[in-house]
Amino acid sequence: MDQDKQSSTPNAATGTSRDGFTSSFGVLAATLGSAVGLGNIWKFPYLTGTNGGASFLVVYIIATLLVGLPVMISEIMLGRKAKADAVTTFQKLAPAGQPWWLISASGVLAAFLIIAFYSEVAAWVFAYVFKAIGGAILSSDPKVTSAAFKTLISDPVQALLWQWLVLLLIGGILLLGVAKGIEAVTKKLMPLLFVLLLVVAVRSLMLPGAMKGVEFLLAPDFSRLSAGVVLTAVGLAFFKLSIGMGTMMTYGSYFRDNQNIPTTTLRVMGADLFVSMLAGLAIFPAVFAFGFAPGAGPSLLFITIPAVFASMPLGHVFMVVFFVLAAIASTGALLSLLEVPVSVMSGRLGISRKRATVINLLVLALIGSGCALSNSTLSGFTLFGKTLFDLFDFLTSNILLPLGGIFICLFVGYVWGLARLKQALSNEGALENGRLVRVLFVLVRFVSPLLILVVMLRGLGVL
Ligand code: PHE
Repeated sequence: MDQDKQSSTPNAATGTSRDGFTSSFGVLAATLGSAVGLGNIWKFPYLTGTNGGASFLVVYIIATLLVGLPVMISEIMLGRKAKADAVTTFQKLAPAGQPWWLISASGVLAAFLIIAFYSEVAAWVFAYVFKAIGGAILSSDPKVTSAAFKTLISDPVQALLWQWLVLLLIGGILLLGVAKGIEAVTKKLMPLLFVLLLVVAVRSLMLPGAMKGVEFLLAPDFSRLSAGVVLTAVGLAFFKLSIGMGTMMTYGSYFRDNQNIPTTTLRVMGADLFVSMLAGLAIFPAVFAFGFAPGAGPSLLFITIPAVFASMPLGHVFMVVFFVLAAIASTGALLSLLEVPVSVMSGRLGISRKRATVINLLVLALIGSGCALSNSTLSGFTLFGKTLFDLFDFLTSNILLPLGGIFICLFVGYVWGLARLKQALSNEGALENGRLVRVLFVLVRFVSPLLILVVMLRGLGVL
């Protein structure tokens, strides 16, 4: 593996140096930092819990291979080729006059909507680190932990303050830049996250009765599957891999020219799946061992898990460790989310990174408040029967990201073409991966877009 350092990539258009990732490990840490997040630690466990366990997992894995992998490779490739923000990337690469940049514009919108609700879940996680340390959520009675959670989310002041704190933290790191901010921070945090998660998973697996949880995660019951469940699994694949909205395109623009894109993508996908499985193995064995139900929904992490930890010896320590690792995971993902609008704004309007970050944070504090207050002041405010929090979550995972994925596939399959795909993914002929590229080409041209479309239409009840 190539570990040599390379300073920022020269920008052909402007002649200036562009900030970017500086080492192979840095690329991996940052990209994985984006993929691994509350999607793995909060969404994956609760969705697996409510949708039948192993059968959901199987569909999810198929979705990551047939849809996730091609879209992720395509995005990173386009970003590296253009070495620009997500909107400019399409303007540079698409034939003049064709509006492919709309994909990225929808991506910027998706980034805003995701950050709005994601930063609130991260806010709860950060608050829980302190509550866990202080022992405030240390009770094996779910009624007590449920009351503690409700107190937190229904207090508008706490909900807003924690969210703004999280936004400030992320903004502060982004201000340091791509190499000194995103790369430096994720390089330190990702290894730590793995170690902490491994510790909690081993602890959970050692509990008497843990095997029931393992079985739940590994023995499929396909009678639980429906079109809606399949769409949820596909949506989760998009969300978990940070694809369909320009995040991976933006990070791709920071990739080094000699980075092997397909291999890196496969590694990130594998590691992301591994983290989800570890999170599942940290949570379900303990849930079953203490007689809790796996299908608690979004509050699984905040009501069931504290009660589970409080039931086990040394639970206090493991609970703190668990919420620290969840906070770490959310940080890497939020950095990559905010980087999308920040890079578009500074790249296109020619304003400084600092200014772009501050402006975006202000806008986000405003939109985010709508989600932060979804459980208190604005709980009665619903659109299409959903609070803003639920609406933004549903809209992004089930509609915006899959749609983005379809168009990215179509662009690569029909506009970009096989010759350029080969050239870009072989690093101008330096790598021998012709067969893989041909398989990928068939996927992006026919299989992936059609599959996403059918799943989407059926899942939404249109077909
Ligand atoms: N992949 C992140 C997670 O699993 C969330 C995310 C979605 C990040 C989209 C960037 C873009 O938590």
